[in-house]
Amino acid sequence: MGDAIWQVRLSVPEAAVPAFEAALESVEGGALALGGPDAQGRVPLTLYLGEAPDRGTLDTRLAMAAAAAGMPPPDVICALMPEIDWVAESQAGLPAVRAGRVWVYGSHVAEPPPAGTVPLLIDANLAFGTGRHETTHLCLLALQDLAKRRAMTNLLDLGCGSGLLALAAARLWPSARVTASDVDGPSIRVARENARLNGFAPGRIRFDVGAGYAAPEVRRNAAYDLIVANILAGPLNALATQTARALRPGGVAILSGLLTGQEPAVLRRHRAAGLILQARQRLGDWSALVLRRLG
Ligand SMILES: C[S@@+](CC[C@H](N)C(=O)[O-])C[C@H]1O[C@@H](n2cnc3c(N)ncnc32)[C@H](O)[C@@H]1O
Repeated sequence: MGDAIWQVRLSVPEAAVPAFEAALESVEGGALALGGPDAQGRVPLTLYLGEAPDRGTLDTRLAMAAAAAGMPPPDVICALMPEIDWVAESQAGLPAVRAGRVWVYGSHVAEPPPAGTVPLLIDANLAFGTGRHETTHLCLLALQDLAKRRAMTNLLDLGCGSGLLALAAARLWPSARVTASDVDGPSIRVARENARLNGFAPGRIRFDVGAGYAAPEVRRNAAYDLIVANILAGPLNALATQTARALRPGGVAILSGLLTGQEPAVLRRHRAAGLILQARQRLGDWSALVLRRLG
C-alpha cells in the first residue's frame, strides 16, 4: 500500500451533515468518513479520493449543499496526503482492541489472546475495518448479542471492507454459510487474505465484488437470515427495499454507519420496506439498528 491519496476536509454543523454527506457521496470514486462533533457541535467530514477532485464541480456541489442547509459555504481543505505505509503504522504499535468477546489484533501484537475471547488477526490496511471504529464495534456487539440467542444458517456482510465482520460471524456461527461483498475490489482482496491468515479454508467465506446486492455471489446465496451492513446512512436507505427482499421472513439486518441523528430517517425508510426495529445500540454519536423482517 502507500499510494498517495487526496483528502477533501471540511466541518459543518450537525444539522447540515445530511446535505453535505449527500454532496460528497455523489463524488465518483470517493470514500466518505464522518467524525464525532467537536465542542461547538461541528462534524468533520473527510472524503478520500484516488485522484484530485474536479474543484469546480466539487465547489458547486458544496455550494448547493450549503444553500440547502441554509448556511454559507464552509472552508474546504483539499490536499494530497503524504504517503503512509499503513502496515508500518500498524506495526508501530496499535494495541489489540476488544469488542465483547471478539479480540482484534495486528500481527505485531505479541501478547496471547485473553482467555475466552474470539481472536481475529487484522492488520491495519487501506481496507476499512480494524475494529477500532465505533461503527464496526457496534456491529461486533450486535452480532455477539444475536449469536447468544439465535442459530443462523446463511449470513451476508455487505460492505465487508477488511472482512472483519464476516470473519467474526463465521466464528460465531461456525456452520453457517457466510457471504461477504464490497464495492471496492482491493478491499475484497484484503478480506480474502485476512480470511486465509485467520485459518479459514478457501471458499469458507464467499467473497465477491459489487455494489449493493448486485454481486453474483450475493444474489446467488440470498435469501439470508442475517445481513450486516456497515455502510453510511445514504447507501443504507437507498438499499432498504433490496435489503428487505434479500432477507428471509423473520430474518435480521444489522445496519451501522449511521449517526444517532440519522436514526429516524433510516428507520422510516426501512419500516416502509417491511422491517421492524428489534434493538438499537449506540456508541458516542454512532448508532446501529437491529431490524427484523416480519415473518
Ligand atoms: C465503513 S466500511 C465497513 C467495513 C467493515 N464491514 C467494518 O464494519 O469495519 C464500509 C465499506 O462498505 C463499502 N461500501 C460502501 N457502499 C457500498 C455499497 N453500496 N455496496 C457495497 N459495498 C459498499 C466500502 O467500500 C467500505 O469497504
